[in-house]
Amino acid sequence: MIVNSEEDIKHLKAIGHICAMTLKTMMEHAKPGMTTLELDNIGMEFLKKEGAQSAPMAMYHFPGATCISVSPVIAHGIPNERVLQEGDLVNIDVSAEMNGYYGDTGASLVIAKQVPEYEKLLAAARSALEKAIQVAVAGQPLNLIGQTIQEDAKRNGFGVIYDLTGHGIGHKLHENPAEVFNYTKPKDHRILDEGLVLAIEPFLTTGKGHVHEEPDGWSLRTIDRTIAAQFEHTIIVTKNKPIILTI
Ligand code: CO
Ligand code: CO
Repeated sequence: MIVNSEEDIKHLKAIGHICAMTLKTMMEHAKPGMTTLELDNIGMEFLKKEGAQSAPMAMYHFPGATCISVSPVIAHGIPNERVLQEGDLVNIDVSAEMNGYYGDTGASLVIAKQVPEYEKLLAAARSALEKAIQVAVAGQPLNLIGQTIQEDAKRNGFGVIYDLTGHGIGHKLHENPAEVFNYTKPKDHRILDEGLVLAIEPFLTTGKGHVHEEPDGWSLRTIDRTIAAQFEHTIIVTKNKPIILTI
């Protein structure tokens, strides 16, 4: 969506903040010995308490309030009886709706342990998101986002996941622009409009960058079973610095 009132901004900030706080709470509670379903329940309760509803549940009948993906699954992981172990690389993605407005945020983390190989990937994925947000300025090509992510990933020694993209968001979870690529597409001439609401979500990997859907019909894992990490924010594009909503 394109925001065109203070009212829009107020509602987007409210749901963005709830998504961010839900993610933060879940990250703080993620401990070895806990199932991903238990972790999801913490997220679901938090959303409920704040008056928000899970977007993937409401929009896609996803069997969980949030997506919890344990490596080599990197997205759309279904919360289940899987027990988290020390050193697991996990991605939590929270998207939710309130008053007809949507927010979407995500982060990867390692459970209860410092794994140098993982920490490097997480730092690079965080850096790619930060740099991509900086270039998301009204009047600039949308492709600059993907180009920036890919270049920053490469500089840090990683590749991107080609099959997963950011997206427009606002009155629905996924809106136009449908695909905010995490790599450069020189023939993509779309321009970023002022007021555009975007979810930017670089996925970085040590592998070749393609995913495969598991038999459960949701979970996406890297085809080569390499590690990947994602960080995501929902933003509003302005003439200057974007407004980050999911903080
Ligand atoms: Co997300
Ligand atoms: Co998203």
